[in-house]
Amino acid sequence: MSAKPLSVSAMAHRLDGEASEVWAVHDKALERKSAGDDIILLCVGDPDFPTPEPIFYQALAAMKRDRTHYSPAEGELGLREAIADLESKTSPHPCSADDVVVFPGATNALFSVFSCLCNPGDEVVVPDPMYVGYCGVFDAVGVKTVPVPLLAAQNFALDMDAMKAAITDKTVAVIVNTPGNPCGNMIPQEQLRELAAYTRERGVWLISDEVYSMITFKQRHRSLRASAESLDNVIMVDGLSKSHAMSGWRIGWVVAPPALVGHLTNMAGASIFGCPQFIQDAAAFALRYDDYYVAQMRDEYQKRRDFLVQRINAMPGVSADMPDAGMFVMMNTAKVATSGQAFAEQLLAQTGVSVVPGAGFGEVTEHYVRITLAQPIPVLTDAMDRLETMLSVTQAAAG
Ligand SMILES: Cc1ncc(COP(=O)(O)O)c(C=O)c1O
Repeated sequence: MSAKPLSVSAMAHRLDGEASEVWAVHDKALERKSAGDDIILLCVGDPDFPTPEPIFYQALAAMKRDRTHYSPAEGELGLREAIADLESKTSPHPCSADDVVVFPGATNALFSVFSCLCNPGDEVVVPDPMYVGYCGVFDAVGVKTVPVPLLAAQNFALDMDAMKAAITDKTVAVIVNTPGNPCGNMIPQEQLRELAAYTRERGVWLISDEVYSMITFKQRHRSLRASAESLDNVIMVDGLSKSHAMSGWRIGWVVAPPALVGHLTNMAGASIFGCPQFIQDAAAFALRYDDYYVAQMRDEYQKRRDFLVQRINAMPGVSADMPDAGMFVMMNTAKVATSGQAFAEQLLAQTGVSVVPGAGFGEVTEHYVRITLAQPIPVLTDAMDRLETMLSVTQAAAG
């Protein structure tokens, strides 16, 4: 007798989607690099800086103090207080540790938020392009996304009328990402305020992913919490991966209204059962004593951004707007290739430089490629030299 077949959940199947063509370029680049080819990886947004040493020593000291045991599901009080203090400093609304839940990274924080808010089939409105990591979260929870194009001609500004028009009776949540990945756009305070009020009236949650909040070049970041008049429906997600070069430490958090904090704590209890104590101690220290190294890294990203944008705009056929924030430059390839995907494939094949095709983030950026700032200027210089050679050869061949 044959055994009854075993099954897996609908969620597991939803996460089984086809691997995106977009990452094929990066995968090919990694394959060629490990085979010994001279490859420059400009794909990922993982800071190239080491985690600042003082943070590392705090973690070590905490481990020596035996801070290696279970911790509360909602997060250690010391870290939640550090987060609340930061929030209170940057917003007219006071924030307390009771408004904060800690998660192992912003990704897990977002997964927990959407798991608490949405059922399969619910609609979530999201600007296009969006951070590619949202796809897994949305697939896992089973939500239907309603993309709203950003205004590419206005350096990827949020189209408020289109956002409002996309919100219907089926909308459970809206998520915005400011500063944005991939475009580095910052949503102005007035728009955040307006969107918060509009969504509140309609019983819709508004989530803001602010993981690039400390990497801004033009003006200081204004958070959704600082902008909104009422915080009833407002949820903010942030973390230390980018600003403090701590991507591998896995620390993120949610600041949410009291009605949601209990659910998020239950969710954290059921799924992670508390983040490591010594990492939370180091994270609390990192947030309280970060002035000099966060600024240093930000200044270096700014130099790289200025360098890349200047080099790109001096080349024939390609162009880039100056991003206001974040860790990426978007290069427009519409004049030299049929798509960003085709361009990225050609660039890797002919020069060994690997970038991410813009289609991975949405339709709006189909003719763009994303270039990371997480490489030092000599590496970026080499990559730009190779790109320039490729473009001039292509142009000469075209006559
Ligand atoms: C917009 C955005 N949100 C969230 C994340 C994930 O952050 P974490 O490392 O804290 O999970 C990233 C990482 O690239 C990101 O770009």
